[in-house]
Amino acid sequence: VGVPHPASRLVALALKPDCIQCLQCLPILSAVYNTYLKYHFVSAFWKEVADDFFWKKPATGPMLQYNFDVTIGNIYVKCMEGAKTNMCYNVLDRLVRERNLGEKVAYYWEGNSPDHHMAITYSQLLSQVCRCANVLKKMGVKKGDRVSIYLPMIPELVYTMLACARIGAVHSIVFAGFSSESLCERIMDAQSSVLVTADGVYRGEKLINLKQIADEALEKCREIVTKCLIVKHHALRTKSGAASNIMTDFMSGICSLFWCVQTPWDSECDVWWEEVMRDSPEECEPEWLDAEDPLFILYTSGSTGKPKGVLHTVAGYLLYTSLTFKYVFDHHHDDVYWCTADIGWITGHSYITYGPLANGATSVLFEGIPVHPHVGRFWEIIEKYKVTKFYTAPTAIRLLMKYGREPLYDLSSLRILGTVGEPINPEAWQWYHEAVGKGRCPVVDTFWQTETVKHSYLTLNPHLIFQTFPFFGVEPTILNEHGEELEGEAEGYLVFRRPWPGIMRTVYRNHERFENSYFKKFPGFYVTGDGCRRDKDGYYWITGRTDDMLNVSGHLMSTAEVEAALTEHPAVAEAAVVSRPHKVKGECLYCFVSLKDSREFTHTLVEELKRLVREKIGPIATPDFIQNAPALPKTRSGKIMRRILRQIARNEKDLGDLSTLADPKVVEELFSQRCEAA
Ligand code: PRX
Repeated sequence: VGVPHPASRLVALALKPDCIQCLQCLPILSAVYNTYLKYHFVSAFWKEVADDFFWKKPATGPMLQYNFDVTIGNIYVKCMEGAKTNMCYNVLDRLVRERNLGEKVAYYWEGNSPDHHMAITYSQLLSQVCRCANVLKKMGVKKGDRVSIYLPMIPELVYTMLACARIGAVHSIVFAGFSSESLCERIMDAQSSVLVTADGVYRGEKLINLKQIADEALEKCREIVTKCLIVKHHALRTKSGAASNIMTDFMSGICSLFWCVQTPWDSECDVWWEEVMRDSPEECEPEWLDAEDPLFILYTSGSTGKPKGVLHTVAGYLLYTSLTFKYVFDHHHDDVYWCTADIGWITGHSYITYGPLANGATSVLFEGIPVHPHVGRFWEIIEKYKVTKFYTAPTAIRLLMKYGREPLYDLSSLRILGTVGEPINPEAWQWYHEAVGKGRCPVVDTFWQTETVKHSYLTLNPHLIFQTFPFFGVEPTILNEHGEELEGEAEGYLVFRRPWPGIMRTVYRNHERFENSYFKKFPGFYVTGDGCRRDKDGYYWITGRTDDMLNVSGHLMSTAEVEAALTEHPAVAEAAVVSRPHKVKGECLYCFVSLKDSREFTHTLVEELKRLVREKIGPIATPDFIQNAPALPKTRSGKIMRRILRQIARNEKDLGDLSTLADPKVVEELFSQRCEAA
């Protein structure tokens, strides 16, 4: 495959089914496999990886120190203690100054409408980041301060996160599809002094007034946020994406003007991005940080319903995102890489911003959605930029499968396909491999989490649809309910025996919750919360969550969070939420609600409840099904038996043992009122 590094050959190797017969490449494979083992187990390897980057001061401690056993003491992971560096310097200055990549395109930004696009080189990115860093500094942001970012997929999102990294501020990005309440909760928890947002954005045909949502959030946290920096994105850049002509341009100009004038403004707090960036200097000395200083907080759903601020630190995150990107996507200098995730999620943090930039890659940064303005939008973009590496989620694949792959577009540039976020079903995998990859592109299925930051597992063989090898340094095992390790063919809890540089360090301001959530159940192991099966050949299959979490369109959410939103409605006495398989989303929300006496279950109530969840959490959490539940199936001690509710939602009649139920008649009644269609 023409790559000098043996480990990247491992990633790029495409085993064909007839290889099993010919076996001529066996010596190469075994050499590659030995190299993999060496990289996997030899800790000096991390030192080699670190040598690629700039360290203002070298490490004084070992590459990795840790305790994973709560019975011994506090859980901690430390990487390269004593070293000083700066993430932004490593992903920008190092490339522009030391590797002469200033003129290389870092991002092709592609707007919601195909009419909007721009290319941003590494030097341009560096200068925008420095200007933004100076703006933040002028607003009083210092090392260690938190900055909340509520922006759509526009270049300013990347500028702001890197500006924070440059000055040592800790960014907390909130996905711009979250509601004002969710945004407020995250701002309060992070205690952010600055919020960066935009006036508005089109998602497909839908206009979202981000500033208004941000204002609603700020109403409850005015005493925390002193400045709100607002990008004039909608007013300056966007149109609905409809075909452009003089009349529509004129109308959209008028609308934009009107939009600006009518944007509510708090002159004490609000600042237009364009105005402060204009005169901001293009030079900004990076803040040299300790290896274990925080880089960012990213909130993920917790099973109690309150989101957890997952905290990642500078050096470990740099080493691991850059390395996983390099090997998983077999990065080459002339690649054009595209990850379709939103930077509001961990996939975007690791594989749109930090990992690709650390490798000097050229990426596509896409603001829109897969089906706007037409269902071939993804394929159009791949053809337009000659994308070589494409990384998306099973939910997007399932959505596009419905329309078939338009032969109109040329996808011959593609070399590697990736998937992430949820288990990929065989039908979707097959279509991705054949219709998109034409059977010649390996599909890397990457299993990981906000907490683990990077690929913990990945499929290296294009003809296998499950995770095979753990990434370098990752040591998985499977435990039973009693915490005993299972050998051979087995199914149980997926856990990790030791950390790697990029694993999360704590839950922000709540280390106890970190220990309780991930280390208490099985002392000595990091507990993923996922189930896993090892087959007779020793390959691993992720079977889904083992806790009260749901994965809707690749987004993790807790049942408790949705239940809390539902019970805020005055008519609802109790709610229980479970998952039901969904053709496109993978899983969707099926909610059972018990109403207060005298309240009637009507279509209007169902609509009100859906709206309530949307407002409280965001559109991604909108329930597909809401069923009236005069009573819920409970054990004699009062615990809701979700297993039974899940089976009712899925219409699985074989309910197994019901002897622990306080009132088995409840089940029959719920079955009779089951929702068939959404
Ligand atoms: O259940 C697993 C599922 O998504 C969870 C992590 O979600 P989040 O922290 O939001 O990060 C998503 C992006 C990495 C996991 O615990 N998951 C993620 N990737 C896969 C997966 N399940 C199966 N296969 C995958 N490739």
